[in-house]
Amino acid sequence: MFDLEFFDIKLDTEIIGRNFIYAEEVDSTNSVLLNKSNKFNDDGTVVLSEKQLQGRGRKDRVWYSNKEMNLTFSILLNDRDFSGGKINLVNFASSLAVAMAIENLYQLKIELKWPNDVLINSKKTAGILIESTSAGKKIEKVVTGIGINVNQTSFQGIYKIPPTSIKSETGSLVEREVLLAEVLNIFEEILHWIDNRPGEILKDWKARCRMIGEKISVTEGENVKYGIFDDIDDEGFLILKTGRRLEKIYFGDVSIG
Ligand code: BTN
Repeated sequence: MFDLEFFDIKLDTEIIGRNFIYAEEVDSTNSVLLNKSNKFNDDGTVVLSEKQLQGRGRKDRVWYSNKEMNLTFSILLNDRDFSGGKINLVNFASSLAVAMAIENLYQLKIELKWPNDVLINSKKTAGILIESTSAGKKIEKVVTGIGINVNQTSFQGIYKIPPTSIKSETGSLVEREVLLAEVLNIFEEILHWIDNRPGEILKDWKARCRMIGEKISVTEGENVKYGIFDDIDDEGFLILKTGRRLEKIYFGDVSIG
């Protein structure tokens, strides 16, 4: 069971997670916040569910997570200024917050993989799915959905990147309340950087991205591109060097080689 009182003691935010919805089972925590009829509008609302019946990953993949073992949650950002590519920074802020929380609490070395996978020892421990709603050109709601493999130690299915969990890497059971509170505390702090020092988010993110400078392939559907991972630009796009050409990559799965 998730101990809500213990979580509340550890939560040290002003906005993020102050409206907290705990559910036993939902289709997808992202869908709960995006569904207009649920009328969740408070900025910073967090939905945590012990089980998702249709947990979603990037590119229409399924996010599998055993009941009560892990953290599957979504954070609503509403009525904020998402102009000028700031939504991309929310994406980086989310994976960076997860990385920093895991480093602080368990002293594990984290690798971040573009665009937003969190890896330990080259295995995936967390993924992020950002979704938004717009009115005309204005982005209204941004929902950042985060799945962290915490205490689950066996994984069925076929994965592009082998999965792992914090317990698998440390050998110790993790207090999910402590981890979730730490992620939200750090996320709120990093959100301030989006306006005050946006360069810092990408700098800290890139410091954990080991693929920069490596030969990579980028797969988008049937299309595969090869080159050197040159950099991530200020908007968060991958810059692929092919010969003397620099190409901006907006989407795709990146692999070494
Ligand atoms: C990925 O790596 O493909 C992204 C996975 C994102 C999974 C989380 S779990 C909570 C939230 N609700 C969802 O349906 N998906 C995200």
